[in-house]
Amino acid sequence: MALLLVLFLANTILPIFSEGSPQAADPPLIHHQIHLLRPQSGAGGSHVPGLSCLSWRLGVETNNIIGWRTIPQDCEGYVGHYMLGHQYRLDSKAVTYEALLYAQSLKLPNDGKNVWVFDVDETSLSNLPYYAHHGFGVEPYNATLFNKWVMEGKAPALPESLKLYSKLLSLGIKAVFLTGRPEDQRSATATNLKKVGYRTWEKLILKQPSETGTTAVVYKSNARKKLEENGYRIIGNIGDQWSDLLGTNTGNRTFKLPDPMYYLS
Ligand SMILES: *[C@@H]1O[C@H](CO)[C@@H](O)[C@H](O)[C@H]1NC(C)=O
Ligand SMILES: *[C@@H]1O[C@H](CO)[C@@H](O)[C@H](O)[C@H]1NC(C)=O
Repeated sequence: MALLLVLFLANTILPIFSEGSPQAADPPLIHHQIHLLRPQSGAGGSHVPGLSCLSWRLGVETNNIIGWRTIPQDCEGYVGHYMLGHQYRLDSKAVTYEALLYAQSLKLPNDGKNVWVFDVDETSLSNLPYYAHHGFGVEPYNATLFNKWVMEGKAPALPESLKLYSKLLSLGIKAVFLTGRPEDQRSATATNLKKVGYRTWEKLILKQPSETGTTAVVYKSNARKKLEENGYRIIGNIGDQWSDLLGTNTGNRTFKLPDPMYYLS
């Protein structure tokens, strides 16, 4: 009898739950489930609020939409709610959780040469306090204002990345911070990282004056190549931009954090 009940549950209730769970993370989708299949406008149906910005964000996160300079004007509210609400944190957590499972599954030589590459902005540190005052990416990038914010050294940690960082250290994997920030922001960056809990690292690599003008993909590939030439094994690599993760010497696995606010090539 008990077995029958289990089979009954497995065949009836569980499929309903498992079909429902992706929508459960995003309540508006449950409501609009059917409507999503309709055209957005014209004779076929009315506009579904939020849909086009959600598609835009998916396109950005999958690297289908590239080379953009600012987020669509109409998506400022959507991106703001995403970044300040639960979903950004849940999405970040899903990424760092997978990264941790992967790291825990490895049997690594204990020779001090295992490293994990962390990007800085929107990965180790969050500039959300800055972007919240600048339209979440609607305003074109303003180097003067952003650099001023960086020099204040007040960026909080992205909590999910900080947690991953601590667990990796306990697994004997050292951190390498690789950032597109220029060398003259080294001390502000180091102070900021330390202040929010990144207490130690193997290297903090910043962009040298001679590298000004090289794309992030090229600059970061070269830096990772140099690491490997120096005997380091890049076990993992995490960043919010595809340019953190593409190119050469990318590491054994890459992990893409969400960032619908800006694009760097
Ligand atoms: C950046 O912001 C400052 C201060 O608001 C402004 O004076 C400057 O013109 C802006 N620069 C660009 C390139 O928009
Ligand atoms: C990482 O990749 C290299 C090169 O493909 C391989 O030799 C090594 O076993 C991999 N290490 C891990 C931990 O997967």
